[in-house]
Amino acid sequence: MNLPFVRVSENAAEHQPILMLLMIKLRRLWVKAYICTVAHLSVHSQAQTMMDLIAKIQKLKKEKKAIILAHNYQRAEIQDIADYVGDSIELSRKAMEEKDAETIVFCAVDFMAQSAAILNPQKKVLLPTLGARCPMAQMLTTEEIKRCKALHPNAPVVLYVNTLAEAKAECDICCTSANAIEVVRSLDSNTVLFGPDRNLAEYVAEKTGKTIVALPEYGFCPTHLLFQPEDVTVLRQEHPEAVVMVHPECSSEMRKVADFIGSTSKMCRFAKDAAEKEFIIGTEEGILHRLRKENPEKKFYLAYEGAVCPNMKLTTLDRLYASLKEERYLIRVPEKIATKARASLECMFQVKS
Ligand code: 13P
Ligand code: SF4
Repeated sequence: MNLPFVRVSENAAEHQPILMLLMIKLRRLWVKAYICTVAHLSVHSQAQTMMDLIAKIQKLKKEKKAIILAHNYQRAEIQDIADYVGDSIELSRKAMEEKDAETIVFCAVDFMAQSAAILNPQKKVLLPTLGARCPMAQMLTTEEIKRCKALHPNAPVVLYVNTLAEAKAECDICCTSANAIEVVRSLDSNTVLFGPDRNLAEYVAEKTGKTIVALPEYGFCPTHLLFQPEDVTVLRQEHPEAVVMVHPECSSEMRKVADFIGSTSKMCRFAKDAAEKEFIIGTEEGILHRLRKENPEKKFYLAYEGAVCPNMKLTTLDRLYASLKEERYLIRVPEKIATKARASLECMFQVKS
């Protein structure tokens, strides 16, 4: 005789796999729902934190009579909160000409903030993160400049602004990627000592026909070195109409595949004025934010997704807020060095480009 409980138990055994599957499915659904809710809440709370920070930064900025300058490679949210976004020469000029603000918060890397402090010593210049250092600027020492000068005593020294103040104090004139060709052309000498970027030095040599001695021998930008022409070939197959824009810090192989070579702001201007609708970009990824914002109808593809300058990305909203609040990190250049470096920077501003 089958007892009811036996039947039930037998039935249960029969249905066990189905029940188990159902339970697993339910658990999965529950986990999914949980993850979705948490993710939604976290995105929501992140957005809320961001909005709070933006409001706090804007309030502090007014109270402290500060202006925020940001390089084209900064994070999107930093570019969006900045009063001015530009390339290195535009930002230097802006810092030099700033009259009303008492504080300039420079969202970029060390040498750019130093240039601002040199050009406008009356202002407090703040760099939100002390670790935001350009490795290329660290590649050129004053000893190397002196050594090279001794070998070529009659050749003028042109230094890219991506150098530290001590190096700038040792040169005759500075340049940026926006005006390097014009600066070298303006000099009354066929041989020029140029540093620290080897690629920019080679590009200037190609364009001016002058003998360029690179100092140090192999100075480079680790981010721009990541671009490879093969990546451009693949992207070109996918987007045959696209214009290739490349920064002069890229290798000569990259220059060869470029339709346009220029500084970050020159790229922005070129993209705006061009009739073309698609662009392959050979410079740090931060520029895509500005390009897309200014040209919503155009398409931009980074030639290599990993091209991120970690130093530029160290500036975050919370660090910017802390910088304003605690007035840190104050960038000062000893007057003796600043006077000489200022002369080299001012000399550059005299050159028409
Ligand atoms: P730009 O002067 O073109 O903005 O370049 C600065 C820089 O650091 C490039 O890596
Ligand atoms: Fe320096 Fe290169 Fe970064 Fe520019 S992109 S700041 S040159 S490391």
